[in-house]
Amino acid sequence: MIHSHPFVRDRILMTPLTLFDFNLSPLCSASSSYSRSSQFKFNSPSVLQRSLLTTVESRASTPKASTRIAIATNNNDSGPARNRFSVSSRRRALAFVATLPTILLWTEPSLEGLVAKADGLATSEYLLMKEEVRKVLSKGNAAGVLRLVFHDAGTFDMDDNSGGMNGSIVYELDRPENVGLKNPVKILDKAKTEVDAIRPASWADMIAVAGAEAVSVCGGPTIPVPLGRLDSMQPDPEGKLPQESLDAPSLRQCFQRKGLTTQDLVALSGAHTVGSKGFGNPTVFDNSYFKILLQKPWKSSGSMIGLPSDRALADDDECLRWITKYAESENMFFEDFKNAYIKLVNSGAKWKNS
Ligand code: HEM
Repeated sequence: MIHSHPFVRDRILMTPLTLFDFNLSPLCSASSSYSRSSQFKFNSPSVLQRSLLTTVESRASTPKASTRIAIATNNNDSGPARNRFSVSSRRRALAFVATLPTILLWTEPSLEGLVAKADGLATSEYLLMKEEVRKVLSKGNAAGVLRLVFHDAGTFDMDDNSGGMNGSIVYELDRPENVGLKNPVKILDKAKTEVDAIRPASWADMIAVAGAEAVSVCGGPTIPVPLGRLDSMQPDPEGKLPQESLDAPSLRQCFQRKGLTTQDLVALSGAHTVGSKGFGNPTVFDNSYFKILLQKPWKSSGSMIGLPSDRALADDDECLRWITKYAESENMFFEDFKNAYIKLVNSGAKWKNS
């Protein structure tokens, strides 16, 4: 069942056989928490069949650092996809090596130095993910990508610590609440394939970064997303996402079980400012959601604006206080959305280095 989903199957079939073996001598005697094998040996999921092996030798600027990159390709896979990925992987590998001396400052073997190097590596990984996501993201598909974040993370339940931001959405696309999310996953799969050719990334990180980029592409706040989430290999429990028919107390309770406050609920619901629900310009992330909620246009006949859950927020005193603040100050909305988004994408996450 685990690998039966097309996106999982495609990942296995399509991942280029690429091995990056960074042999960085200053780290050989480093502390175990930054061991060479965990930090600098980048294996794609399919490194078993290394038939055609191309080695690129590169010396970084200091004599201490030598970097060896081996690109292995699978000669059994001779289709166009293989050509595309192997050429692109090589190009990426060379570009990555070329920038390594700038990214990593291999000078002193102190703990601080190692932490800085690890940060540098995380930064380069983040930039790479952002770059690839930007290539596939447009104002037109941003809303779907942002919705994907909530549908992955929103399964979190603090009571039994199940669900959360773990990439399991790729196994859950046939659920009724996830109708329409196959396309955003397909779009991100392209970006992930490119990222994976350099350094495998989790779906959870990809989706978290992509959602933040979707907000930014539509003119919303810049949201820095920490990386290192691990993917789950199975679907999350069902029935954890709120239904659109819920009233405000039930929505508040539902979010509370995910570690999210009423303020978070209202700020995050502001994501509905983009997309097809009628809150202003569908491709502009601004505070028109809150302005329109205050006007309650559905009271006048025939207006289809908003979901029942959006309307419910405007009828609740505590929610209304936040709605009013965000309608008055877009800056405040942006700041609170940013913080709530980071809480959302961290909820229930299992981390690589913990
Ligand atoms: C408060 C509880 C929520 C409920 C009940 C809810 C439900 C829904 C529903 C039913 C849709 C319409 C899907 C469709 O067009 O078929 C939708 C759209 C959307 N939701 Fe939510 N949602 C909630 C919270 C959130 C949160 C927290 C986010 C992100 C932070 C989010 C992001 C979006 C986006 C961006 C869309 C527009 C998608 C598009 O038009 O392609 N939602 N939501």
